[in-house]
Amino acid sequence: MKIWPRNVKTALDDEKRRLIRGFGLGRDGRVYMEYKIHQNIPGRAIIAASPSPLTIYHDEGCPSAKENKPCWHMGAVIMALKVDPPVEAELVVSQVAPCQIIRDLTEEILGRPGDFELLELVEEDVPADPEAVLDVPDDAHWLTRFNLPARVLKKVLAFRENQEKILTDEQRMRIPKPKYIPSGNELISAVSALVYGENGSRWEAPLLIGPKGSGKSTMAETLAAILMLPVNKVFGGIDINAEALLGARTLVPVEDVDIITEAKLRVACKTAGIEPDTLIQRLKGAQMKVGFEPGIFLKAVEKGEMIIVDEINMLIPEVTSLLHGLLDWQKTLSVPGYGIIQAPPNFRLVGCMNFGYSGTKSLNEAFQDRFRSVQVPHLGSEKLAELIQNETNCRESTAVKLSEIFSSLAQGVENGDLSERVLSVRSLFRIAMEEMDGCGTLRYVAASVLTDGISDRYEADRIKDIIEAHLR
Ligand SMILES: Nc1ncnc2c1ncn2[C@@H]1O[C@H](COP(=O)(O)OP(=O)(O)OP(=O)(O)O)[C@@H](O)[C@H]1O
Ligand SMILES: [Mg+2]
Repeated sequence: MKIWPRNVKTALDDEKRRLIRGFGLGRDGRVYMEYKIHQNIPGRAIIAASPSPLTIYHDEGCPSAKENKPCWHMGAVIMALKVDPPVEAELVVSQVAPCQIIRDLTEEILGRPGDFELLELVEEDVPADPEAVLDVPDDAHWLTRFNLPARVLKKVLAFRENQEKILTDEQRMRIPKPKYIPSGNELISAVSALVYGENGSRWEAPLLIGPKGSGKSTMAETLAAILMLPVNKVFGGIDINAEALLGARTLVPVEDVDIITEAKLRVACKTAGIEPDTLIQRLKGAQMKVGFEPGIFLKAVEKGEMIIVDEINMLIPEVTSLLHGLLDWQKTLSVPGYGIIQAPPNFRLVGCMNFGYSGTKSLNEAFQDRFRSVQVPHLGSEKLAELIQNETNCRESTAVKLSEIFSSLAQGVENGDLSERVLSVRSLFRIAMEEMDGCGTLRYVAASVLTDGISDRYEADRIKDIIEAHLR
């Protein structure tokens, strides 16, 4: 949709200026405007805009917005964003959620302070540097959807700027895509821990804890994407020992022949009348010496990348004790036969663990205390439906039904009727895909996917009852 110069001009009419209650810079980097709906009718509304790509979030109350037409409200917010019309903007018409305002921009634009009622003006304890907040580079604009607090966003942007300078092409290819959909504040908590302190110098490793399939691994990868860090994955288990992670002594080819051997060879060759150079060349690489082959962990620490330790509670104590030094303030890794490594400032670690099902152990207290524990719950119904649709491209109605079935199963688990193993987001994707591929009705594939692996007849029947109640 196009916003025209006349829309901005109308916004500057005396009559309209009186309707504008204030402009403010939101914590999320968007510019907000609060306005009176009409001079003689009580009631206020808000509109927001974010730059590159220019997007306007407009309340459903505006008749023009409802018809996808530009209006003076849009003119006013793009003026506050310092964008000149005519300009193309994406319009999102829905209720605009109020946001905390970290800087009142009204004075700059209208020459008087803002009068906010719906928006909340908060005192930032840092000298607000809104330019820095607003100046999110185009390729990082997706970051604003996570609503990180301004201070955290600023540190993240500085971290990324540094990464941009030092990453190799190979490392860039190992940065994952940010696919995680937050259900609450958990992503903000984890990102803030990863950049604690000045320039993130006191960072702590988040430990993502939640039921199976709740998105822990996806969130860990999203954290790497946010910080622009290449990822290295380690899975906990008894076969992972310190040697496999750190590395071990091994024989490596010697690339050179030492001077004394070379001198002796030359003399001998001369006496025998042989050309020495080919012989010396052949000798190079044929000798072996004891060297050190670094393991995945050591390499990742030295290169300042991210390590994601999945199923961290399954690690053997030999390995967890190795992580201790790396996770407290010293940030050092001691490698027998190699030395003590100081982790570079951009090294990060994220742990993930399940809870509540067999085969998992709880973590040693001193070890867990080194992490910022973060709960990663299953998504609520609405967002879960959105996820199912994104993952499988199924019909919206299918996604909604499946998310409702999931809620009822979760209720059953909470009541103690069903065991936690029935809650599987991955199964919902399977059902949607099988139905789309024509493997049966939604009711049939749902029952098959959700109960075929369950030996307890009572539990399987309860699940079938739930499916039937939703898919009658
Ligand atoms: N909140 C979410 N945002 C995005 N994707 C999600 C979310 N929750 C679940 N998923 C999707 O569900 C699937 C399982 O997610 P993931 O592997 O991250 O879960 P997990 O918690 O690590 O599981 P496990 O405990 O089995 O290791 C993936 O396809 C993932 O994309
Ligand atoms: Mg996982």
